[in-house]
Amino acid sequence: MDTISQLEQKREAARMGGGERRINAQHAKGKLTARERLELLLDEGSFEEFDMFVEHRCADFGMADDKIPGDGVVTGWGTINGRIVYVFAKDFTVLGGSLSQAHAQKVCKIQDMALRNGAPVIGLMDAGGARIQEGVDSLGGYAEIFQRNVLASGVIPQISVIMGPCAGGDVYSPAMTDFIFMVRDTSYMFVTGPDVVKTVTQEEVTAEQLGGASIHTTKSSIADGAWDNDVETLAQIRRLMDFLPANNRAEAPTRPSWDKPDRLEMSLDTLVPDNPNKPYDMKELILKTVDEGDFFEIQENFAKNIVTGFGRIDGQPVGIVGNQPMVLAGCLDSDASRKAARFVRFCDCFNIPIVTFVDVPGFLPGTSQEYGGLIKHGAKLLFAYCEATVPKITVITRKAVGGAYVVMASRHLRGDLNFAWPTAGIAVMGAQGAVEIIFRDELGNPERIAARTEEYENRFLNPFVAANRGYIDEVIMPHSTRRRISLGLQRLRNKQLENPWKKHSNLPL
Ligand code: HXC
Repeated sequence: MDTISQLEQKREAARMGGGERRINAQHAKGKLTARERLELLLDEGSFEEFDMFVEHRCADFGMADDKIPGDGVVTGWGTINGRIVYVFAKDFTVLGGSLSQAHAQKVCKIQDMALRNGAPVIGLMDAGGARIQEGVDSLGGYAEIFQRNVLASGVIPQISVIMGPCAGGDVYSPAMTDFIFMVRDTSYMFVTGPDVVKTVTQEEVTAEQLGGASIHTTKSSIADGAWDNDVETLAQIRRLMDFLPANNRAEAPTRPSWDKPDRLEMSLDTLVPDNPNKPYDMKELILKTVDEGDFFEIQENFAKNIVTGFGRIDGQPVGIVGNQPMVLAGCLDSDASRKAARFVRFCDCFNIPIVTFVDVPGFLPGTSQEYGGLIKHGAKLLFAYCEATVPKITVITRKAVGGAYVVMASRHLRGDLNFAWPTAGIAVMGAQGAVEIIFRDELGNPERIAARTEEYENRFLNPFVAANRGYIDEVIMPHSTRRRISLGLQRLRNKQLENPWKKHSNLPL
């Protein structure tokens, strides 16, 4: 046989991974193989594989006779809508995708190339953790990957997609990347699995109850989103990548849109109900503001009192943060603060302007919040907005009360453009609470208190006191929100703002 056909034969064998039986088992679980996944993730024919013939070097426990080319991870590069990404996909058909030293070196090579060339890394996870037969070599391999995750953090986007088991050593690399997405029902993530949990704590849980997508998208907030199957998940990752720049020095990709930047949305004039205690859906405002109603939500099912996600305005990607009056009246609590803080910091790392929609009655009171560290969690969001140097545009639609007014990208935190709708009310606290403090000696007289409350509302629950001080640049018509933001983004395109030199800040963790 000539050498060229030998090469083709070797490649063919490597592409079969752990063999037909294990590929069939993978399919029977409703999962695609590593290479099938990469084909769907990347533009057709764009994937170029590296290190296809790498094998492990372990000889213990009969491993010398158990070598499969590629060693449980498929690595390389390709394009998503024409833009380069580096990828690795764990191949569960080869020793359960477990991580050997050689496997780790393949992943590290991809991380190094991506960092050097300023392009994102996407990791598809489906593996049984450390290669048990390799012991400490495997642990060292993980450590090398973690170190690179951290060095790349804030330099290139790093995305993790959990598409099967992800346990033990495999969980910490995703945890240090920018976003984690999961596939419902076929993926799970935990440090220690159900068997160990049972031995140590006597708790009986299934893998799904311990670390399925249903837990990580709602309770733990480890995952940023989940979809029903591999195909849909990979299509959504392609969609996400279109919002992100290649690295922290590159601009986010713009996309021509048929949606006019000066489109007026008359229905927004009646979005805010007359009754200040009645909720409305902040997502309606977001969807009516962004290009073509295209909004990629991050952490949709966690801390629903705040909405975070990516959209575009006049073709330019923006990060959107909005209080959601439909849940907890839009109060900021620990979970919402953490969720939004992380999102704001991501946008700032990668030069994505931040648009903030504010309707917040304050921080959520109570022992459970205070005991849970609300002060530090709330401070995370405050810190994130203070630190951010990207263009920041804020629109107050209704309430902006107390510390929460300050936190939500107020003018005072180097906000670039701060707008308010005529329905906005910016105050140090709610009218009732304020009156009960200022007019404590009149508390026995309900009529007097009612009159005082009305007086307070008339005086402060409007945007004009803040506008009068210059804290609000302009009171705008709700229907012109998109036009105003679009103009603002254009004019802020060359914004230059730098924080003082430091090794790094000391975020309240
Ligand atoms: C070597 C492994 C392996 C591992 C799975 N396999 N995990 N080989 N090292 N860690 C192999 C199996 O022997 C099997 O080989 C094949 O992969 C498929 O595994 P199955 O068990 O048949 O699959 P399934 O029933 O789907 O169960 C998947 C699983 C289970 C839940 C992931 O395999 C499992 O519990 N694995 C061990 C998980 C674990 O404890 N990992 C170590 C964590 S410690 P054949 O030849 O039959 O196909 C760790 C610490 C690192 O990671 C810390 C770093 C900081």
